[in-house]
Amino acid sequence: MTCIADFFTYETTKSVVVKSWTIGVINRAVQLLIITYFIGWVFIHEKAYQIRDTAIESSVVTKVKGLGKYSNRVMDVADYVTPPQGSSVFVILTKLIMTENQVQGFCPETEAKYSCKNDSQCKGRSPNTGNGYLTGHCSPTFRTCEIQGWCPTEIDTVKVPIMYEAENFTIFIKNSIRFPLFNFEKGNLFSNLTSDHLKKCLYDPATSPYCPIFRVGDVVRLAGQNFTKLADQGGVIGIKIGWGCDLDRSWDYCVPEYTFTRLDSISEKNNVSPGYNFRYAKYYKHDNGSEYRTLLKAFGIRIDVLVYGNAGKFNIIPTLINCVAAFTSVGVGTVLCDIILLNFLKGADQYKAKKFEEVSEVNLPSARSASTEMFKSTQTLAGGRTDEKQSTDSGAFSIGH
Ligand SMILES: *[C@@H]1O[C@H](CO)[C@@H](O)[C@H](O)[C@H]1NC(C)=O
Repeated sequence: MTCIADFFTYETTKSVVVKSWTIGVINRAVQLLIITYFIGWVFIHEKAYQIRDTAIESSVVTKVKGLGKYSNRVMDVADYVTPPQGSSVFVILTKLIMTENQVQGFCPETEAKYSCKNDSQCKGRSPNTGNGYLTGHCSPTFRTCEIQGWCPTEIDTVKVPIMYEAENFTIFIKNSIRFPLFNFEKGNLFSNLTSDHLKKCLYDPATSPYCPIFRVGDVVRLAGQNFTKLADQGGVIGIKIGWGCDLDRSWDYCVPEYTFTRLDSISEKNNVSPGYNFRYAKYYKHDNGSEYRTLLKAFGIRIDVLVYGNAGKFNIIPTLINCVAAFTSVGVGTVLCDIILLNFLKGADQYKAKKFEEVSEVNLPSARSASTEMFKSTQTLAGGRTDEKQSTDSGAFSIGH
């Protein structure tokens, strides 16, 4: 029975109140600092009272508009945008090296390292060049090794102009997002945008930050790039759409923020593989059924539209957890104050004596005699106040001695 009675007790710590201005001011200052941190940073800035959804669902549809001129041709969207589906990743071609009328056959290789004087120099080499398979013959007129493949071969070292008009092309971006946790949906075409306004507006970070139409030249400039250089070598530009939504506020405050950056910064710094280019071909047939093609080496600005974001809404669980953390953290101040109090303050020894009460050996036998009933003895000692110094230890603690 006594065991049970002893179990149902409550222990509380004994406190030493120090009446000192110095330590008092430090204590309150530290507490104030901790409270300010929690209220200002954790609760107001980081919104720790909210539950957060970072799994944003999004769809992006794009459409490019504009006309350009390239090698005596007017280029429209179907000519310079690939792939044509209007996805979040697409390329606006700005420079093309065309090799027209290629047919399957035999022709001299154009690369300088395949120059030769006789057939023996074309034998015993790795059989495939960049353009085809070596036949082992040296072409007498061109003095280079002959290959089998698409002929004539491409010469991609020529200097070709870029399509400057691409700077004035516009990109229209339609973005819908959803936060599944809150079942919250929104898009970047606001209802207050009339179709008339939408036709005329152009994104500008200062004057028109919500217009979903972007001029390519502006996008490149806002990404910190030079248009001419980028169009010449090719590159990847990211248009990032950030949604930071506080759903405790009104629906209208959940708006996208557009930022621009060059994503392939590695090809900008590195000279081995500068820029971005790829090859593709268009295939045709002669009336007699024989096939020929136009090979294109394309340089262009690839646009990646990236959507990210999170939404927060008040929830009781994170609020409670963070409140408890805040209250607990206020207690951290005592650790600092104890260090100052017991080590650096005038009269530290007196404070130490008050805080840590020493038990001398003389008193120990009396406790040891009752060691079989340790719990009970401590209780009686404490209750009877026969030995105050021992009563500060709880029964559970002294069992270890
Ligand atoms: C882009 O448009 C502006 C204004 O319409 C025009 O002055 C400029 O010449 C155009 N730039 C190019 C490269 O066509």
